Order: sequence, then structure tokens, then C-alpha cells
Amino acid sequence: MSMRSTYAIRGSFFDITATAETAAQLADYVRYIEDGCLLIEHGRIRSLQYWEAGCKQITDEHQVIDYRGKLIVPGFIDTHIHYPQTEMIGAFGEQLLEWLQYYTFPVESQYDNPEHAASMSAFFLQQLLSNGTTTALVFATVHPQSVEALFSAAERIGMRLIAGKVMMDRNAPDYLTETAEESYHQTRKLIDRWHHRGRLNYALTPRFAPTSSPELLDKVRQLRQEYPDVWVHTHLSENHQEIAWVKTLFPEHTGYLDVYHQYQLTGRRSVFAHCLHLEDGEWDCLHQTDSSIAFCPTSNLFLGSGLFDVQRCWQKGVKLGIGTDVGAGTTFNMLQTLAEAYKVSQLRGYRLHVCEAFYHATLGGAHALDLAHVIGNFNADKEADFVVLDPAVSALQQLRYHNSEDIWARLFVLMTLGDDRNIAHTWVNGQHVWPPSGSAEDVRVPTI
Ligand code: GUN
Ligand code: ZN
Repeated sequence: MSMRSTYAIRGSFFDITATAETAAQLADYVRYIEDGCLLIEHGRIRSLQYWEAGCKQITDEHQVIDYRGKLIVPGFIDTHIHYPQTEMIGAFGEQLLEWLQYYTFPVESQYDNPEHAASMSAFFLQQLLSNGTTTALVFATVHPQSVEALFSAAERIGMRLIAGKVMMDRNAPDYLTETAEESYHQTRKLIDRWHHRGRLNYALTPRFAPTSSPELLDKVRQLRQEYPDVWVHTHLSENHQEIAWVKTLFPEHTGYLDVYHQYQLTGRRSVFAHCLHLEDGEWDCLHQTDSSIAFCPTSNLFLGSGLFDVQRCWQKGVKLGIGTDVGAGTTFNMLQTLAEAYKVSQLRGYRLHVCEAFYHATLGGAHALDLAHVIGNFNADKEADFVVLDPAVSALQQLRYHNSEDIWARLFVLMTLGDDRNIAHTWVNGQHVWPPSGSAEDVRVPTI
């Protein structure tokens, strides 16, 4: 594929045109154009129109790309993932706290090595792109070099990414802890270097309350005050043992979220992963502070953590995105993650419609990250991040595709049966980035 910057893309397009406050509203904002024309200029969307109208604006400048027969959706947005856990996905047997001790901390210790961090960053970003994910909110490790490696790799691709160095100063092995003071200075340097550099942004990343002393949380608060437009990314209310532990570590607080709230870490750019066992007042606090939740269905099932309540989240007016939470999550693939979100919702007595599922994975996720003005759908001037889906890649998918009655049934089957085989192409910032121009075999698997 050439590096021209002006394209006309033909195919079927599906997106949600505006953010919603209720699931019912989504029906008004759904856009499906069976034969559409997406015009892209210098990395941005100029327009999405019916082909007959759009094709009249095609000039000699445009490279025309024909994706007829495919379904094109906005790039998926993963609102919670750990890049250093790629190499430990699918670790057997434990729930959260033991899983962290036995598997996670030893693996994360490798990221003090910049070469390891660089090769795993490249592999991680390829996993995202090959699964149609174009933006992610990412945990690195406690080592600043892990963040350097990830941002450098994302910058080369032109991806929009938010990431940060883990901050932790207690209840973890010595080889992964730091002092609150060190954490502050190293985080500051990384913010100065990477925040707002191209499409990259920084997230203050205290791991979770149990690995944070009051002094550390106070440093996070100070950084947020000094850099009011950085993101905050942490875990909240994932596991019953974890919640009980927070109550013993912070007895003067009224509950788990109150720890973050008192240190001024709630707010419009704060994203809390999991939120499975919130108390009523905690839901209200998330709403009042305009904080967001990352729903991580595969992780919540894999670690036996609990069943997230999507319906309550709408009722309480809290912004929601989807997280794969690799490596507690079991896939990078958003279609598979949405399929699990559907099943979790079934167990909660809630029907997760396919429009709603795609909304959470695209524009809703963008809204949860406070990025709905730049990504999440095909509105004019948005950054051109999108995925070209092959709707039926196996005999079973073809059978179900052809006996489905309408686009919604076809989309739902794609969500239920789909995986990375359905990701035909991924575009980032108006450039084709997946599959790579060489053969797919060129993708290097790091040797660990
Ligand atoms: N809570 C604190 N750290 C982690 C982590 O790495 N993964 C998950 N799922 N929960 C956490
Ligand atoms: Zn996590």
C-alpha cells in the first residue's frame, strides 16, 4: 500500500454518531450505510456518505480502495490492558491476589531490561492492531524504561495511546517497589517527555490502593494538581478479598473508592477498571465526579472476580468502556470480549444489544477516555482509525451469515462467533497498518 494521504474507501459502514445517556438512545444514533464512501485527507475523516454522493468528490489525488463485501467500523478502543502481561496470558488456577504474587510480579520484573521492553512493546502493539484495536489505555510496569519502550513503538506506528508507569511502594516484592519520592520524580519526567507528544498521552497509574501508601497517593494527587489534564488509571473493587484488605489498610476511609476520592483521583479523566462490587454511594461518587469504568468481562470471568452490572452503570449515569485486561483477560480480540460481555449480562438478566456492545467498544470507550471529540466514529474531522471486518471467514460463520435476516442479526453473529480471523485490515491515522505490507509471517515472536 502506498503512503498517499488522500483516500476514498468504498464498503459498508457501521458506527454510532453521538454519545448516549441511555441504551435506548443508541437506536437514534446508529448509522449503517451499505454502500458508502469514506473520504480521508491527511489522517482525518473528511466525510462519510452514500457512494453515489461521495464518489462525485473523488479527484486524481484520491487513492480509491474497494472494500465492498466487508464491514467497516471505527477502530476498537481498549480501555484497560497491561502490556507487560502479554507473556503470561492464561496462567492457571488463582484469583486476583495470589495471581498477582505467583505470576504477575515475577513477569513484570523483566521490564527493567529495555531490550525486553522494546521487543514486547512491538509484539503487544501488533496484537492490538491485528485485533482491530487502534487505541488503548495501557498499564506498563514500575520501570520508566517500560513506558519509554511502549511510547516509542506507538509513536512509530502513529497510534493514539494513553499509558503510564505503575506507581507502587508497598505490598509487592522489593524488586518492584519504589519510594513515593522516586515514583513522583520518575513519573514527572515521563509526563514532561511524552504527554501530548503527537497522539500519545500520559496516565498516572497507581496500581491499586493495596500497593499504595498514603504518601504515594499524596504524590499522585500532587502530580494531578501539577498536570491537571493527565489521565488517572487504576483498579477498583475487583475482588472481595481485595476490598476487605483495602478496608484494613485504610480504616479511616468510608470504603475503597473513598481512598482514591480523598486523594482527588476521581474525575473526568479517571478510569477505574472492574468496579464489580461497588456500593451505592460509590456509584454515585463515580457519577458525580464524571469518572469512568472499564468493564473487563474475560478477566472478570477468568479470575472468578464477578459479574459487572451494565444496566446499573446506565442507570447511575457512569461512562463505560470495554477493557480486555490482558493478561488476566484471555484475549486481545474485542469481538470475543464483547461476546463475553453479552454472556455476563445474560447472567445479570440484561440483554446487551449488538449496537450497544459496539458502542461501548468504540464511541462509548472514546467517551470514557474523554476522547470522543477525536475518535470513536466516522464523523467529519475525526482521526481516521478504523477496522475492515470480514463478516464470514469460516464455514460456520458463512452459514450463519447467510441465514441471518438483517444487519443486526449478522452483526450479532459476528460478535458471537468472531475472532482475529475476521480482522481483514486495520487503519490508523489514515494509514493502512495491518496486515503489514510484507507477509504476516514477518511478524516476529519475541524469544523470552
Ligand atoms: N489489581 C492490581 N493489579 C492488577 C492487575 O495487574 N490485574 C488485575 N486484573 N487486577 C489488578
Ligand atoms: Zn488490570
